[in-house]
Amino acid sequence: MEHIYNQPQFGENWFTYPNLYSRFVKELEDGSKIVEVGCWKGKSVSYLAVEIINSGKDIKIDAIDTWKGTPDEEYHQKDVFVKIDKLYNLFLSNISPVSQVINPIRMSSVEAAALYEDSSVDVVFIDAGSYL
Ligand SMILES: C[S@@+](CC[C@H](N)C(=O)[O-])C[C@H]1O[C@@H](n2cnc3c(N)ncnc32)[C@H](O)[C@@H]1O
Repeated sequence: MEHIYNQPQFGENWFTYPNLYSRFVKELEDGSKIVEVGCWKGKSVSYLAVEIINSGKDIKIDAIDTWKGTPDEEYHQKDVFVKIDKLYNLFLSNISPVSQVINPIRMSSVEAAALYEDSSVDVVFIDAGSYL
């Protein structure tokens, strides 16, 4: 399938690491799990999901975010979707074409860390700036 992450509904372009995400998919095997912490409107995770789907590999993503924006980032807190607490709805809508490989987990990073046994995931990519 064609990539969707450049569509306007994904908003801000903070995704500067597509080559790294492509490499994860190239190197991981069937049954692998990738955790992305910090997903915002879904741009980077949608890129990763399309790469996974196109690879034909059985790789799943846990997408962790509070979907409240980083508390001390003024730009996040000014975002209209954050203000009306609809960032998560926008994320779900944006990832809907690739939702079969993404498991959204609406928690802080610290809370979510307790969900995982040691060595139970293959990649953890953190793009979240606050200790919550
Ligand atoms: C820079 S944005 C992520 C951008 C995204 N990876 C992309 O490329 O489009 C940071 C995100 O991290 C989330 N966040 C910040 N601190 C967090 C924490 N401690 N736990 C969970 N989410 C957090 C914010 O809600 C925000 O959506």
